Order: sequence, then structure tokens, then C-alpha cells
Amino acid sequence: MGVNFKRLKGFADMFADRSRLFALMESNARKIFSRYEYRELRTPILESTDLFQRSIGDETDVVKKEMFTFSDRKGRSVTLRPEATAGVMRAAIEAGLDKPGIINRFFTIGPMFRYERPQMGRMRQFHQINCECLGSSSPYADAEIICMLLAFLSSLKLAGLKLKLNSLGCGNCRPRYLEALKNFLRDKRGSLCADCQRRATENPLRVIDCKEPACRALCLDAPRLMDYNCPDCIAHIEKVTGLLTGQGLEMEIDHHLVRGLDYYFRTTFEIVSGDIGAQTAVAGGGRYDGLISQLGGGDIPGIGFACGMERLALLIKDPEEAFPDFYMLCPDDENRDKAFGIVQDLRKNGFSGEMNYQGGGFKSLMRQAAKSRARFCLIFGMDEARQNCVTFRNMETGNQEKFPLADFMDEFRKIIRACPEA
Ligand code: HAM
Repeated sequence: MGVNFKRLKGFADMFADRSRLFALMESNARKIFSRYEYRELRTPILESTDLFQRSIGDETDVVKKEMFTFSDRKGRSVTLRPEATAGVMRAAIEAGLDKPGIINRFFTIGPMFRYERPQMGRMRQFHQINCECLGSSSPYADAEIICMLLAFLSSLKLAGLKLKLNSLGCGNCRPRYLEALKNFLRDKRGSLCADCQRRATENPLRVIDCKEPACRALCLDAPRLMDYNCPDCIAHIEKVTGLLTGQGLEMEIDHHLVRGLDYYFRTTFEIVSGDIGAQTAVAGGGRYDGLISQLGGGDIPGIGFACGMERLALLIKDPEEAFPDFYMLCPDDENRDKAFGIVQDLRKNGFSGEMNYQGGGFKSLMRQAAKSRARFCLIFGMDEARQNCVTFRNMETGNQEKFPLADFMDEFRKIIRACPEA
């Protein structure tokens, strides 16, 4: 009986068109990030569950409802990474890079896993381009990483994006804010969702971030974080916004931007788009001073962001696929070894294309050549084999010309150059 395997819900196969978009994002990211001295760090996809619980926070939706967690063969709880930051921190601490006075900049590209309800721009396996700058609490680091993110997004020629900023305050001023928020929520608990009724006392900041419409509506009148920022936090966010404005960048202060993860501190930001349906955030991040020490490392500040590649893919204009340079058409089995050698020489010289592995009628092979969308068909039939030459056929004009094998590579190079892609 045949077995009918299907991909899991919220997981995707990416064929050439989609892979090309992802490759474009990756190569632009590498190019732009290297100008800012960011280096690639690849961390494992599977980590101990408590790494994510400790960093992202027990009360967050990600930890509470969305992690792919299971036991390994020894009964240890492990989790497919729902984000990259925790793993990068773990790796930096493990490598002894959590030393004061040193700045380390990392980028990580790869799949993340969250058990969410799939919809446009929301997958269970999705991909992030993630950057982290460890070791500086300076507002210049904040402004620089935001500039880098915007430079990356503009390299993809994306329009209609908006930068939103907020400041979550620090250990000095946030407790005062949380008290005010608890007071605000105290007599409204009956109108909150079941989760938020608990959060209202245990982790009230999460109420602001709740996606339930009733909680959202209620929080519109909640006290604003920035009104409770201490002078140091105000000076910090003002410096960041000043530097960004100096770069000609526009931003909006969003007093409800608290982000969905517990580790943020001071600056938080998101890039949103109105063109991708309900999931509007294409990137998000912020400062997380205190996270590294919370994970057992040194008292090292940090700031970072992640872009969702699936969401960016919805906004990018598909780059044109490059056509192959040649299709080697060789009708006769006895000439195929020689044709194989010619094709290999072409590839060694930087040309792209394929050949027919099996013989066939000239017409049907020519149809295959057309189907491959090659710019030139190279014909190596009985006549060519006898005369030690190759026929070039321009697939657009139908013009044909024969060249001796001795200098066909130079001729092909000239012809390809003289005939740029449409
Ligand atoms: P996040 O806001 O949870 O932050 O995710 C960052 C981005 O990942 C989102 O803005 C969105 O574009 C994308 N994303 C998240 N979930 C999904 C999903 N289910 N399907 C498709 N795309 C999704 C973080 O992950 C932080 N670690 C960012 C950070 C780095 N903060 C500091 N350093």
C-alpha cells in the first residue's frame, strides 16, 4: 500500500523560487553586517529547555505555549530553539567571551521553531536573521545596530516600513512603573483574559503585550513606561533617538511596545509593515543588560534584533532567475563521453548548463534545450565529432555558427559577453 507523507502543519518546503529569495536576504545580510564588524556564529538548533525558560521568561507566550519541547533518550528536557538570542548568550559564556571591556558582535541565520497557529507570515518553523552586540551599554551601540538593520532592509529595496521605539526602563525605575501598572490593573481584572488575570500581579508587563482584544483595548489607557523612566534612562533613549534623527531616520515612539520576551531593558524597537496582513512585525529587538549574568555569565550588557525571513519574503520583489548559459545537445551515444568532457570544461571556465544523458531525436532534444531556458544550445552531433568542432545556436535568434574545439572556449566567452542577458 502506498504511503502518503505530507509535511507537518506550519512547516514549509522551499523550492528554487523561494530559496532564491532567502539566498538574496542572506547574502545582503552578510555584506552589510561585515561593514559593521559582525561575525557569523552558528549555534545548535537544540538546547536545554531551561536555557529558554530562564532567558525568555516563564510567563511569556513563547515559553508557556509555543515551544517544541521533548525528552531525549536519557529523559532530559530539550527544546528546538524558538529564537537565537538565548543560544548565542550560552555560546558566548561557554567560550569565555563574557568579559568586561570587550565587544563581540555576532550574527546568526537559521530556522527557529514556535508552536503557533500558522497563518500568512506565521510559521511553526520560520527563519531569522539575528544580530547581537555584547559588551557595550552605550547608546551608540543601540543607534548603530538600528542603523545596520535599516541599511539591511533598504538593501532589499523594501518600502513602507516604520521604525517603532520605546524604553522599558532599568532596574531603578521599572519597579516604580510596575507598581503603577499593577494599581491600574487592580480593579480591571474581571475584564482581562484568564492568563492576564494571573499576569496582572505576577508579571504585569506581559498584560500590555497580550494579543486578546479585550486586554489590548484596556491597556490603551495604561500608564506609559517612558513617563516612569529615570534620568539615566531618559538620557539614554534621547541620545539614541538623536543619533537616529541625525542619520535622517524617522521613528515613532510606541508606548505599548514591550516586546514578547522577558529579557528586555531600556531600548526596545520593532520594524513594522502594513503590507503583510495581521503579522506586521518584520523585525524586533532591544537591549538586554542583565541577561548574560542571569544565565550564569559576567555582568555584560548587550543589544540585538532578529528579522523574520518569511515576513521579509512577503515584501521582496522576486529577483529574476539567471538563465543557464548552455544546453549541450548530443544525439548519439558514441559521442557522449566527449560531450561530457566539453561540458565539464565549460563549467570549469565558469559557465552554467546541462547536457542530455540519453540519446534521442534531434527535435525532441531541441525541445529539452528550449525547456532548460539556456541562452545557447551547443550541438555536438556526428558531423561536429568528425570535424572536431561544436555548433553554437543562439536560442533567441536561432542563428547558428560552428567553431573548432581548439578555441571554442574563447569564442563562447566572446559570444556570451556580446550577448548580455535580456
Ligand atoms: P521576536 O520579536 O520574538 O524577537 O522575533 C523576531 C522576528 O521574528 C519577528 O519580528 C518576526 O518577524 C519573526 N517571527 C517571530 N515568530 C515568527 C513566526 N512564528 N513565523 C514567522 N516569523 C516569526 C526575537 O526572537 C528576539 N530574539 C530578537 C532579539 C535578538 N532581541 C535581541 N536580540
